[in-house]
Order: sequence, then C-alpha cells, then structure tokens
Amino acid sequence: MKLWIVGLFLVLLCMEPQNGAGQLLKRKKDVGETQTRPGGKRVRIRLPNLNGKKVKSHSLLTQVLDKGRFLRLGESTILTPGRNLELRCKGSHIGWSYPTYLDTFNDSRLSIKQSDKYSQLVLTSPSAADTGPYSCWVIVCDGAECHRDQDRTYASYIYFPDKEHLFVPSAIHFEIVYLRPDMPTVVPCRVTEPQAKTSLHREVPAEEITANTTRVTYDPTRGFVLQHSTPENQGVFYCKAVFRETPQVSNKYQLLYVEVPSGPPFVSLGASPETVRGGDNVNITCTVLGEPEVDMSFTWSYPGQDQRPVHILSSWRLVNRGMGYTTRVSQSVLTVEDIETIDFGNYVCKAKNQHGETVVTLKLNST
Ligand SMILES: *[C@@H]1O[C@H](CO)[C@@H](O)[C@H](O)[C@H]1NC(C)=O
Ligand SMILES: *[C@@H]1O[C@H](CO)[C@@H](O)[C@H](O)[C@H]1NC(C)=O
Ligand SMILES: *[C@@H]1O[C@H](CO)[C@@H](O)[C@H](O)[C@H]1NC(C)=O
Repeated sequence: MKLWIVGLFLVLLCMEPQNGAGQLLKRKKDVGETQTRPGGKRVRIRLPNLNGKKVKSHSLLTQVLDKGRFLRLGESTILTPGRNLELRCKGSHIGWSYPTYLDTFNDSRLSIKQSDKYSQLVLTSPSAADTGPYSCWVIVCDGAECHRDQDRTYASYIYFPDKEHLFVPSAIHFEIVYLRPDMPTVVPCRVTEPQAKTSLHREVPAEEITANTTRVTYDPTRGFVLQHSTPENQGVFYCKAVFRETPQVSNKYQLLYVEVPSGPPFVSLGASPETVRGGDNVNITCTVLGEPEVDMSFTWSYPGQDQRPVHILSSWRLVNRGMGYTTRVSQSVLTVEDIETIDFGNYVCKAKNQHGETVVTLKLNST
C-alpha cells in the first residue's frame, strides 16, 4: 500500500501542475500593441477606449488556418481534434509553453521551429488530451543573460472537444490531491468541452458538492477549486460532466489533509547509540516532518569532514498519522564506523526546503 502511494506520488512529481500557465492569461490594461522600430526602441501605441471599455491588446500568438490566413488567438479557443495545429508567434527569439504532458511523454507529435521573423509550433493529430494552456513570449537578451518579456507574453487556453472524453484524459487514474489549511485546493478535473455542466461528488458517503461562489467554484481550465480545506473534506471524489445528456465521470481523486503548514522544515537530530566510545559505530539521524510533496535536501558538517570516511543515506516516506493526516518523513542518516578521537564533536545537519532551512547540532561526546 505504502509503495503504491509512493509510486503514484512519483508519477505526480513528473506531471507539473497545469495551473502555472494560468498566470500567463494576463490582459494588458489600456496599453496597445508593442512594436519594435528599426531603431530598436520599443514604442507603445495607445489604443482609444471604445465606450469606456478596455480595448484588448493584440496577441502576437496566431493560428495558421491555411495558406496566408491567420487567426489571432484570444484567451480561449475551441479547435477541432484530429486537425493539425500550427501556431505562430512573431519575433526572432521566442519561448513556448504547452501542456506539460507533451514533454513528460516526449511526444514526437510536437515540433517547434524558429525562423528569422517568427517561431512555429506544430502539433499533429491533437486530441482531447492536448487540451490546455499554450503560450509564447519574446525572449530578451542582455549579453548572455536572457529572460522572458512579461509584457510580450501571449497565451490561449485551447480546448479540443471530444464527445467520448468530456474530461481531459490523464495517465493517472487515481490521483492524490493534498488539502491544506492555508491555501485553496484544486481537484483537477478539466473538461474538453467548456459548455459541459460539471459537478463534484464524494464517493462515501455518496454526496454531491455543489459549486457555489463562496466555498467551491468550477473553472473549466483548472477544475473544482475548494477555498477553505478542513479534515472533513477528505475522501475519494470524482467529477461528473453532462453535455447533451450524456453524463461521464472523471478519474478518481483521493483528497488528503496535510497537517504541517508551509514553512522551513521542522528538524530533529539524534544519535544511536546515545553514548559511544572509541571503536564503536554510531548512526546520527536527522529527521524532518513535512508536507508530502515538498522536497527536502540535507547537508552535513562533522568533525572528521574530508578526513574520515562516513556513510550518508537519505530517504523519505509518506506516513499516515491517524485521522487521515499525511506527512512526509524525510531522513538522512550519517554513519561513522570504528570511532576515533577525531570523530567526537559537533554534527550539524542542515535541512532545506523551498520555504527555508533549519540547522540543528548534536554534540557527540566520549564517555
Ligand atoms: C526525446 O525524443 C528525442 C527524439 O525522438 C530523443 O532524441 C530524446 O533523447 C528524447 N528525450 C528523452 C528525455 O527521452
Ligand atoms: C456552498 O457550498 C458549501 C459546501 O457544499 C456549503 O457548505 C455552503 O453552505 C454553500 N454556500 C452557499 C451560499 O450556498
Ligand atoms: C545504524 O543503521 C543501520 C541501518 O539502519 C543499522 O543496520 C545499524 O544497526 C545501525 N547501527 C547502530 C549503531 O545503531
């Protein structure tokens, strides 16, 4: 069971969340097209306000329809599956993003070519699974340092509707979703048909969670968003979609509540045995309890550094801590064999995650 969860978790690690590109769906305020003059200076052209409405900036992301015809893509686009997709983005140095699953499976249907004036992304035989955010941006370089020009980033969420797959197919049939006290939770059942009517269901006890504006909302590009999570939200869930009277159900999602809030790791350090003499072996164990999907790294410093051979083994596992709470236990064990005088002193374990680092010290004394 445990191995099975870890396996699933590894798959999850490979699949980056889809919502990153959501940030790209930014609309410029009242600033119009950005153009490059021969002199190299960027000039902004202000478009007039029509009836007080904000005029949407022109996207440089276009779809090539057929010879010589281009369509500027808006915030979202509905395209026909099976028909090859060709996108273009103007500029001599362009970056792209597309649904991460195309990279995970190293899909040969996808190709990107840069020419002098534009970059071209081609996806052959797109299907429901390719539904997701596509974006391009101008890369600006200053010497060897390059970065994305946020003002010239264009995105479109592309749907490939499929009657047989109202939900975007996923390789993970039973996905784990972590509920946190401090942030919204997304049950990622995205649809391929934006008009489909969706609902969220708990398996046991059978219950429909109705979307309403305050607690639970549905976004076809993300899934169901639960604003405030509590341990009561745990359980096995699935989504249901209805479009033209044919209901379909999604994959299943196991919602698990995570008790540890985001922050630097909480670390404990211990020696086994606690007291040692020359010639003994000792294990010094640095343990961190943390969020299931937050990666940890350990670094050690110790008295015999660079002079004595030590063995360091780092590992982690998920444990259920009652009431369905889940934590990740990460451990690094430093083993010193046949202790010599030089080995007595301070053993320092530095544990680091994305939120910060914690340093703990243990003094190994001779008895
Ligand atoms: C992806 O596919 C290309 C061409 O088929 C190959 O050269 C490359 O090594 C592959 N990369 C991975 C990570 O599998
Ligand atoms: C919204 O849905 C939640 C969960 O089903 C429910 O507890 C809450 O009362 C609902 N709020 C409104 C305003 O309907
Ligand atoms: C140190 O850890 C290893 C691996 O878990 C174990 O085999 C060994 O008995 C431990 N030694 C001591 C002194 O605790």
